[in-house]
Amino acid sequence: MKPILTTERLILREMAQGDLPALAAIVRDEETMYAYNGAFSEQETQECLDRQLTRYRTDGFGLWAVVLKETGEMIGQAGVSMQPVEDEQVPEIGYLFNRAHWHRGYAAEAAIACKHYAFEVLGVPEIYSIIRDTNIASMNVAIRNGMTIRKRFIKHYRGVDMPHFLFGVRKDTETR
Ligand SMILES: CC(C)(COP(=O)(O)OP(=O)(O)OC[C@H]1O[C@@H](n2cnc3c(N)ncnc32)[C@H](O)[C@@H]1OP(=O)(O)O)[C@@H](O)C(=O)NCCC(=O)NCCS
Repeated sequence: MKPILTTERLILREMAQGDLPALAAIVRDEETMYAYNGAFSEQETQECLDRQLTRYRTDGFGLWAVVLKETGEMIGQAGVSMQPVEDEQVPEIGYLFNRAHWHRGYAAEAAIACKHYAFEVLGVPEIYSIIRDTNIASMNVAIRNGMTIRKRFIKHYRGVDMPHFLFGVRKDTETR
């Protein structure tokens, strides 16, 4: 599978059906998924993968597999997707990592690469991350990615009203 992006330690590439077990290890874990109101079922996991495969075809981008260069293992997913924020659709950098690989800077490394991809390849003037107000680890990734809070809004997800922050960074104010 052709890499979309490479960083010092990571390769980001499109996911395929064979990545289902690695994806399931992430999205079927309760602790990883607390910001999403709990772990996905088997069916939700397949739907999550199918959503990305559809995005690759229709948008040309989506959440990609994050693979460790050193071992070839898929340790997370990160990428860009269009997401609703109140009445708008915005380009969003998302990231979810296997818990065994947290606290090593991989999420920030992937998120920064996605930001440059969004600015330089997708040509967007501003890129966002949408983060539940309790998800401090994710907010820290957004901050490491040069983002600041744009607004707070309520997201309706899996039958629950959840306060979220919209983080963003503009290309023309980028210093990195
Ligand atoms: C959000 C999430 C991806 C953050 O992962 P993370 O590993 O904490 O994030 P980073 O990649 O930025 O790593 C930062 C940590 O790595 C450490 N680190 C170690 N080596 C590093 C290096 N070479 N470079 C940078 N940081 C490094 C940092 O000190 C920091 O440690 P800390 O967590 O103890 O403060 C992870 O918590 C996750 O998958 N959560 C569940 C899914 C989720 O909520 N996604 C976001 C939805 S909005």
